Amino acid sequence: MNIQNKIFWRDQPHIENIGDKISIVGAGMVGMSVAVSMLGTGVTKNLVLVDAFGDKVKGEVLDLQHGALFLKHPRIQGGNDFSATQGSKLCIITAGVRQEPGESRLSLAQRNADIMAKLVPELVKHSPDTMILMVGNPCDVMTYVAWKASGLPSHKVMGAGTTLDTQRFKVALSRKFNLNPANIHAWIIGEHGDNSIALWSSVNIGGIRIQQINSKFGTDEDPENWMELHKDVIGAAQAIQELKGYTNWGVGMSVAAMAKALITNKLTIYPVSVNAKGRYGIEEDIFIPLPSVLGSNGITDVVHLNLNERELTDLQNTAKLLKQVQDTIKI
Ligand code: 2OP
Repeated sequence: MNIQNKIFWRDQPHIENIGDKISIVGAGMVGMSVAVSMLGTGVTKNLVLVDAFGDKVKGEVLDLQHGALFLKHPRIQGGNDFSATQGSKLCIITAGVRQEPGESRLSLAQRNADIMAKLVPELVKHSPDTMILMVGNPCDVMTYVAWKASGLPSHKVMGAGTTLDTQRFKVALSRKFNLNPANIHAWIIGEHGDNSIALWSSVNIGGIRIQQINSKFGTDEDPENWMELHKDVIGAAQAIQELKGYTNWGVGMSVAAMAKALITNKLTIYPVSVNAKGRYGIEEDIFIPLPSVLGSNGITDVVHLNLNERELTDLQNTAKLLKQVQDTIKI
């Protein structure tokens, strides 16, 4: 006796993929934090986790499924076979080696490029219309590698960029101003790493641009030394790595928010790594974090920032540095 048939008349098969499928490649600390953040906030009804270590990812999926009563959408699959990613609307790449305490993100470039060069074509083979959100480090250079290896148009390939750095900056500012960080408007751009650029000219609270009331705010001549906050942002990952070995929660929550913007066409601005060619005097294909609008067609717009002279020079210098790293990579 089939009990199901006693409960239901199943007239139609259930739809497996309603077009919001998201695959996460890499079920390490970062990948799992992205997964949990997405499942808790209802980003997708169809989540796939892929990892070279099949048992590890299967264990993670089983464990997560036991919390299904508390998740927004409990449909999760996982394994080491890329065919499970078939028909993804978005692939999030968290795979790759991570830096050891004291190591820079840029030093991982060739090792992670080798990994991306293998897995990105696999993803695109199964999901030729996917968007790619790169999280692996060095994030901006790996976004370039993913773009090259995927053959996708550049508006569909982006990196998490300085979204996390910007969050860290807002949180640091919010502590000083004793405010909710959501009420601080500010950008960090240029590189997710040691060469990031804090746009002090963009810091705005309650509609008041701080540099308008204190032109030295964030500069070398600032007696209040606000610049220190940017140094703390640059050192944040290192500080956490020294304490617990890796970072995962901040990045997980921010990647889930970006994924939501992409999947639900929220048209929200995040400072993601985008192809900067043709902007700010940059003439080559270099992926740089710049505030951009995210929707279900990928990057729809890149914000035209009103940079001051110093910020523009810093951005162009960071672009040159990223280009040098890009040029050293063999893919
Ligand atoms: C972070 O900034 C390590 O890139 C990672 O937390």
